[in-house]
Amino acid sequence: MSRSPRILMCPPDYYGIEYEINPWMNRENATDPTASVWQWWALHDALRDLGVEIETLEPVPGLPDLVFTANAGLVFHNTFVVSRFRHGVRQGEAPHFERWARRHGFDVVDMPPHLHFEGAGDALFCGSTLFAGYRYRSDAGAHQWIGTQLGVEVLPVELVDPRFYHLDTCFCPLAEGAALYYPGAFDDYGRSVLRDRIETLIEVEAEEAVSFSCNAVVVGRSVLLNEGAPKLARILRGIGFTTTPLRLTEFIKAGGSAKCLTLRLDGEEAASWSHAEALAVH
Ligand code: ARG
Repeated sequence: MSRSPRILMCPPDYYGIEYEINPWMNRENATDPTASVWQWWALHDALRDLGVEIETLEPVPGLPDLVFTANAGLVFHNTFVVSRFRHGVRQGEAPHFERWARRHGFDVVDMPPHLHFEGAGDALFCGSTLFAGYRYRSDAGAHQWIGTQLGVEVLPVELVDPRFYHLDTCFCPLAEGAALYYPGAFDDYGRSVLRDRIETLIEVEAEEAVSFSCNAVVVGRSVLLNEGAPKLARILRGIGFTTTPLRLTEFIKAGGSAKCLTLRLDGEEAASWSHAEALAVH
């Protein structure tokens, strides 16, 4: 019997727009705390209804972006590579993520101090390859370092549009050999890498990409994504996925949506190593 999918989330008790580190953030555009809590719980409950076991990290005052657990680090089997945030305002999050990972039995790996790396926000497995975004947050050198440490193939792709500053805002693996992407977030080279290496690569239109539709959480054949992408939802249903649109407007104010609010702890179905793990369990 395979185990339930496991996801780490952090409640939005201290969430808000307190600084501006991406083009979506504007301190004048305050979040509504009640709406943030409702929207966060709707995502939490939709995941739980899919059979996901949710782990929660305790929120910390003064760390408003701690809710974005995709940026905690990168999970590979039992290894947890802790993020090294580019911006000082987020650097205080790393010790909390690290402590959580150690307490939950992960082997924590620290990267050399001169490198920046923002976890599953910028590094996503599709098949056995780790696709890795660099420039705005993570360094290409960090991705190379991870490839050597984990012994996996890493394909770094440059992000060229500051609105899509993390890879998970413009690229989303669906299954081994299948992914969503917004072409405008990559340069010619990046686009050709993705096209050459991913058999079924679904293009998301600019209009739907700006509503964070690539920032989707995939659990088995279910896709949870921000509302505002009816065309993409139709395409996904056409290839056998069910879709759940969610209202995540409060989190978009910080430049995040469904995927950013989650960290898959047992490996997404798109990651070939997660199946190896499942086989080893029973
Ligand atoms: N305000 C956060 C930041 O700019 C949002 C992080 C979104 N996370 C993500 N995985 N895309 O760092």
